[in-house]
Amino acid sequence: MLLARGARDRMIGVFDSGLGGLSVLAAIARALPRADLVYLADTAHLPYGDKDDAFIRSRVMRIGTHLVDRGCAVVVVACNTATAAAVAAFRETFPHLPVVGVEPGIKPAAAASRSGRIAVLATPSTARSQRLASLIQQHAGAVQVDVEPCPGWASRVETLHLDDPTFVEDARRHLAPLLAAGVDQIVLGCTHYAFLCPVLEPIVANQAVLVEVADAVARQCVRLAGTAALGQGRLTLLSSAQPERLHAALPALGLTWLDKRLTGAARQVLA
Ligand code: DGL
Repeated sequence: MLLARGARDRMIGVFDSGLGGLSVLAAIARALPRADLVYLADTAHLPYGDKDDAFIRSRVMRIGTHLVDRGCAVVVVACNTATAAAVAAFRETFPHLPVVGVEPGIKPAAAASRSGRIAVLATPSTARSQRLASLIQQHAGAVQVDVEPCPGWASRVETLHLDDPTFVEDARRHLAPLLAAGVDQIVLGCTHYAFLCPVLEPIVANQAVLVEVADAVARQCVRLAGTAALGQGRLTLLSSAQPERLHAALPALGLTWLDKRLTGAARQVLA
């Protein structure tokens, strides 16, 4: 659907490799009820977390450019992996475009820690990134940070079988040594992991708190939105593969309430 030019230029574009960025989209939708939102899932190329930086950068450029061409006035990279590998290059290409990235909440977690030890759960790509190393150096202070790569977790979310017993076992295996070491804040360093909270919370209960940044990202969008805050509260869903899966995933992720904003069926783009 082509929108009139005025409406086109007031949209907020949000993207991720797949479903994970919906956790950020939901926070933005709550904070900006009248904004017209476009969500693009790069389902054809997920997971990003086991790809190299050059590949991730090429996808971010392609998707970001597509969203700008559709008339997005603000672009949200709702993916820690893509932010770490490519947000700097994307900002260089579009110096006047407000671009919001998503980075692990090291700063709030370090500030809240009583034990002086926190952990970040992230994709293998984010875990080895220079950007995460710099974030830790800048914001952790004297707090010790354990970086825990969690291969396969984003793909687990994509299956929507979140409480599969083999996953629960895998999650315990990753978390038990961190809890035993005294970690009291566990940063979810991948937007997909927000949907794993129902599995992770009982494992860490009474020992550690899960730290998410979706609401902070939404607040940043509110600051940057300008007239993009003042649309008609619509939501367009786009995907580079299997667009029907995107809408079908909303109930399993507790996001049925987004249905009322939908402009129509999810459509395939950038195939
Ligand atoms: N949701 C993304 C992130 O925040 C990427 C997950 C993936 O595709 O590996 O890192």
